[in-house]
Amino acid sequence: MDLAALEKQLRTLQADAATRISAAASTAELDELGSSLLGKRGAITEILRGIGALPADDRPKIGVVANEVRAALDASVSARRVALSAGELLERIERERVDATTPGPAPRIGSLHPIPETIAAITEIMSSFGFVVAEGQEIEDDVTNFQLLNIPEDHPSRDLWDTLYLQEPGRLLRTHTSPGQIRTMQAGGPPIRVILPGRCFRYEAVDASHGFEFHQVEGLLVDRSATLADLKGILDELAKGLFGSAARTRFRPGYYPFTEPSVAVDVSWPGSKDGWMTILGAGMVHPVVLENGGIDPETHQGFAFGLGVERIAMLRHGIPDLRAFLENDLRFLAGFR
Ligand code: PHE
Repeated sequence: MDLAALEKQLRTLQADAATRISAAASTAELDELGSSLLGKRGAITEILRGIGALPADDRPKIGVVANEVRAALDASVSARRVALSAGELLERIERERVDATTPGPAPRIGSLHPIPETIAAITEIMSSFGFVVAEGQEIEDDVTNFQLLNIPEDHPSRDLWDTLYLQEPGRLLRTHTSPGQIRTMQAGGPPIRVILPGRCFRYEAVDASHGFEFHQVEGLLVDRSATLADLKGILDELAKGLFGSAARTRFRPGYYPFTEPSVAVDVSWPGSKDGWMTILGAGMVHPVVLENGGIDPETHQGFAFGLGVERIAMLRHGIPDLRAFLENDLRFLAGFR
């Protein structure tokens, strides 16, 4: 083995490898080819094994040639890699292409339950008359739920409210939102303009129009002068806001121990199938109740009303059975989107 023979082997390898490199079809194939040529056990290393048989003078010379060949092959492997990987990237992008315009899974859109929806509608209308929302409490005491509202313990009107009593003496679940009148008056003097929406409870056999749990919105206005005419005007506007501007109201004499005079209010609107429907009770706040709330009935007057939210929601949405409000059936709620 002499210098010329070794050099020829290297040059042949270079020429041959160059064609194979440019023919490599994938980066994986190219990687394999690269290490079979340039690696520790590659073809170049193999050829250089013959170096030991050369005279000492020739060894550096063949080293120079070997480095040249190595560098040339290295360069063509790199160049080929650039070309191949660009193509492979494009191929991969094509293969993994996602169609961003494909419709995704439909989001589940919720809806407001008709009870809070109705309370919100009432709140919006009443706030245009300057009423603000206040809160009573669901657990009340006999004194505030009944006695301070002019309903003494043995009064037959208690029969109007079938009460759920707690074990603690004198404590009960409020039967109406009217005790909120007392709490509001006691908390701050007149002028008062509040609505008190909330949950009430009665010992009732549940059917399509009665629940043991239901909602009311109480309204209370106390000022130096407040008349039945003001009450009538505001409730008429409330009815129009809830049932359309063609809705009409009718006031009938009613009875509540905490208002004097008391009225029952009916509403009717074009297309309402059932004619006049009673939606609320109201009246001028009884002087005794004003006094119980710490307000002088000589200088101040007030009116109050209480409406049943379930009944209004049923009328507004044509819901025949109020038990649907408590069942939490998503199919029922989906109807109110
Ligand atoms: N609290 C009465 C009821 O539950 C309604 C009402 C409220 C009547 C305010 C007059 C004034 O039936």
